[in-house]
Amino acid sequence: HRCAAVIPAAGRGVRLGPGAPKALRALGGTPMLVHAVRALARARAVSLVVVVGPPGEAAQVRTLLDDHLDHLDSTEVVVVSGGDTRQDSVRLGIAALPGDVDVVLVHDAARPLVPVDTVEAVAAAVRAGAPAVVPALPVTDTVKQVEPGGEPGRPEPVVATPERAALRAVQTPQGFDRRVLTEAHEKVPAAGEGATDDAGMVERLGVEVVLVPGHEEAFKVTRPLDMVLAEAVLARRRA
Ligand code: CTP
Ligand code: MG
Repeated sequence: HRCAAVIPAAGRGVRLGPGAPKALRALGGTPMLVHAVRALARARAVSLVVVVGPPGEAAQVRTLLDDHLDHLDSTEVVVVSGGDTRQDSVRLGIAALPGDVDVVLVHDAARPLVPVDTVEAVAAAVRAGAPAVVPALPVTDTVKQVEPGGEPGRPEPVVATPERAALRAVQTPQGFDRRVLTEAHEKVPAAGEGATDDAGMVERLGVEVVLVPGHEEAFKVTRPLDMVLAEAVLARRRA
């Protein structure tokens, strides 16, 4: 098997607030994207990383990676430009993969602190024959379902309360048999924000998706408080 990682990093980071594209913002003095690339490149299974950078910033991203990743053993790092949605960006990343890659891990740049063991576990499960593998954790908050399209500022009526024990919160890297992931991105229509993860698209093909244990440190940096947590996790690692 040859395993590659695709890292969508083309988002603006609107929920994080004004500033540089999220993937380029500093975490412990180093751009978040660099942490994410390192986390994937450190995995023995991964021999190629395709970074999908903000449109028009490929040169800047290339320079930034060259500055930070000189000692990155034998992992090749390629940079391409992303699109308007995460789904577009992942598709552009897949299109840059060489023909001999048969296992693909898709990992959010916004999950910079994923432990290498989680990456290895996902890759191993795909290599062992699962077409789609997702790291996941039990949900700690009770989740309510509401009617979509409620008015902002108005109290929202609750439609249902799914049984919490039957719910999982999913993370990345999500690992796939390359053909399955490619087919999902070719066939599943870009339904706006409908597909929030790649495994969800694969499910719509009728292909089985399985879960492996995720990790607390693979959380997604989305809002300002997540940066506080990420800095604290890094500081603890460095202590
Ligand atoms: N992403 C991407 N291309 C896009 C949108 C998102 O590659 N057009 C990537 C982000 O860079 C991120 C991952 O998808 O690594 C997960 O998306 P999210 O956390 O939503 O990041 P942003 O879209 O940047 O944040 P926001 O939605 O707050 O703007
Ligand atoms: Mg987004």
